Amino acid sequence: MRHAGTPIAIVTAYDFPTGRACDLYGADMTLCGDSLGQVCLGYDSTTRLTMDEMVHHCRAVSRGSKNPFLIADMPFGAYYTSPEDALRNAIRLVQDGGAEGVKMEGGEELAPTVRKLTSVGIPVIVHMGLTPQRHTSLSGYRVQGKDAQSALSVLRTALTLESAGAFSILLEAIPHLLATHITNRLSVPTIGIGAGPGTNGQVLVWDDLMGTWHGHKAKFARRFADGQAEEKKGVTCFVIAVKERSFPDLTSESYEMAQSEWERFL
Ligand code: KIV
Ligand code: NA
Repeated sequence: MRHAGTPIAIVTAYDFPTGRACDLYGADMTLCGDSLGQVCLGYDSTTRLTMDEMVHHCRAVSRGSKNPFLIADMPFGAYYTSPEDALRNAIRLVQDGGAEGVKMEGGEELAPTVRKLTSVGIPVIVHMGLTPQRHTSLSGYRVQGKDAQSALSVLRTALTLESAGAFSILLEAIPHLLATHITNRLSVPTIGIGAGPGTNGQVLVWDDLMGTWHGHKAKFARRFADGQAEEKKGVTCFVIAVKERSFPDLTSESYEMAQSEWERFL
């Protein structure tokens, strides 16, 4: 797709119905992201998400998302301790979770881990720029690579991890000029989120694009639907209909019994 100049569209999914929607409505890849921890499980940070939770949800996504390439995020703590630990956990995501590739956040320190996983045939995409699993040491969710020195460091990291075997590089919240420059310097596809229009693909979080997220909205998170309004309408109208006894309708929404059977019953 990079060679053909066709933009790559990636959507996150967390369960069977969201995975199925990615499949039905044309996503090229489905990402079972660790945003799962925040938007689906209600944790205040992705660092709370465990391997068991990721495997459980990814397996559900894989039952719904058949056609798109399925990537699973490696949870915080599942890959820093050693390349061997990373491999063991990546195997779980493939074998038990049904993932076809894995994503890890980090920098040049990930090179041996990327080599290890790719050497046994597990495709790896590396997430750099703003890496949410490191939000504490980054002093929050901030745009990265804004000064020349840190921009150079993101570029160097991307080149190093491409050499280590990463099949794609995900760039989050970096200036668009830098993302386009990195895209031109690499031969693997770049995927952007808050990285401008110059990357080879774009990824968005399900709840951001559906408009179902009630929390903070990042600058790059365009709402393509008003899911929150639909949720409000559905639940509110149901509750009202129950309270005013207009639901269910006696004929169109209830079942009949033959009069003779009813008399025998009585
Ligand atoms: O977990 C996630 O949803 C992600 C995307 C924001 C890229 O990593
Ligand atoms: Na993530």
